[in-house]
Amino acid sequence: MAKWKYDVTLTAKNDLGSDEKILEIVIGDKLSLTPPMGWNSWNCWGLSVSQDKVYDAAKSFVDKGLADHGWTNINIDDGWEIFGKSDAPKRSRKGEILTNEKFPDMKKLGYDIHALGLKFGIYSSPGPLTCGGYTASYKHEYQDARTFAKWGIDYLKYDLCSYRNFMNNQNSVEELKPPYILMNKALRSIDRDIVYSICEYGNGKVWEWGESVGGNLWRTTRDIWDNWDRMYEIGFGQVENAKYAGPGHWNDPDMLVVGWVGWGPNLHQSELTPDEQYTHVSLWSMLSAPLLLGNDLTKLDTFTLNLITNDEVIAIDQDKLGKQATPVIKTDDIQVWKKELSDGNIAIGIFNVSKENLDYKLELKKLGVNGEVTLRDLWRQTDIGKFNNMFTTRIPSHGVKLLKVFLK
Ligand code: GAL
Repeated sequence: MAKWKYDVTLTAKNDLGSDEKILEIVIGDKLSLTPPMGWNSWNCWGLSVSQDKVYDAAKSFVDKGLADHGWTNINIDDGWEIFGKSDAPKRSRKGEILTNEKFPDMKKLGYDIHALGLKFGIYSSPGPLTCGGYTASYKHEYQDARTFAKWGIDYLKYDLCSYRNFMNNQNSVEELKPPYILMNKALRSIDRDIVYSICEYGNGKVWEWGESVGGNLWRTTRDIWDNWDRMYEIGFGQVENAKYAGPGHWNDPDMLVVGWVGWGPNLHQSELTPDEQYTHVSLWSMLSAPLLLGNDLTKLDTFTLNLITNDEVIAIDQDKLGKQATPVIKTDDIQVWKKELSDGNIAIGIFNVSKENLDYKLELKKLGVNGEVTLRDLWRQTDIGKFNNMFTTRIPSHGVKLLKVFLK
């Protein structure tokens, strides 16, 4: 529960006028009152991640202005630990987990990331090995939590991986919960706030119990890839879990696949078309999903930069009500999703999931909208006009119209 709440009024002025916004500062036990925003090394660097690459990403958040749009967490995924099959010691004599040669100084990395005003995330697994075969936290949970705190960690992704070998039934909630409860206790025992990201691919309907084991977010699906079919299956499949999302506990449909990605040293430009990328970012924002970039931030073209710095789109994701969108209209060609917002208005995404460009007539009544309303195009940041029930628009194949509906 929130212990203290402060409203701070921020005013910006220039020759064209002035504007005001209220910044709400909430202090209490709950972390991640809005979905985490940041970067994770996996979708670009995979197991070839290194300290320099992580620092370069952090530096880009600041140098390219991304931090000003809310991008905050810099998260190392798998590949920082000692490889399980290597002859090298995996832990110090005292049992402290060791980093491999690509991460010469984790504490310094934490210091450097914090010095940029950003937050630092790491990855481990409740099994003996991570998914990539690296050393994990099995039987060292408390010690690893202490080590992470010492390094200045603010966010832990805890990935089931080899723990599955101890399980009889991959979907058994009784078997899935204990390793997550254990690490939660370890994290709560240390004097540091660490966002807890559960990753077990949605097994055992994790959304139904993720919050009860301390999770601030939980992966709801298998891994995403940069193609339409996989992104479509994952994104548009987030329906049953909607009611479990809210401030401090989010459904995580995996990371964004925009920009240069590759899961290893060799990168390529996302195979999603520009319209598919608009759909991807719009849908994740409508879902109040964690926004975790997975691309090489040192290589940002103008299109990708615009895609991830549109404040009106980001505001939909970060809305403090934390209500996940649900589909209201679903045909083979079109899906219309609706999200309630904290200011009493709604956001709608009209998605053309067909292979053709389409003209679509939306009956606003079907979304529970009555009377005259103003529609605003969030990607273009312009008001389209006032509408009384019927709204007609052309949407390219696999593209989207993302709108805010001003009810008052
Ligand atoms: C997978 C996980 C990915 C990534 C990878 C690392 O299980 O879903 O997001 O963390 O392991 O090996």
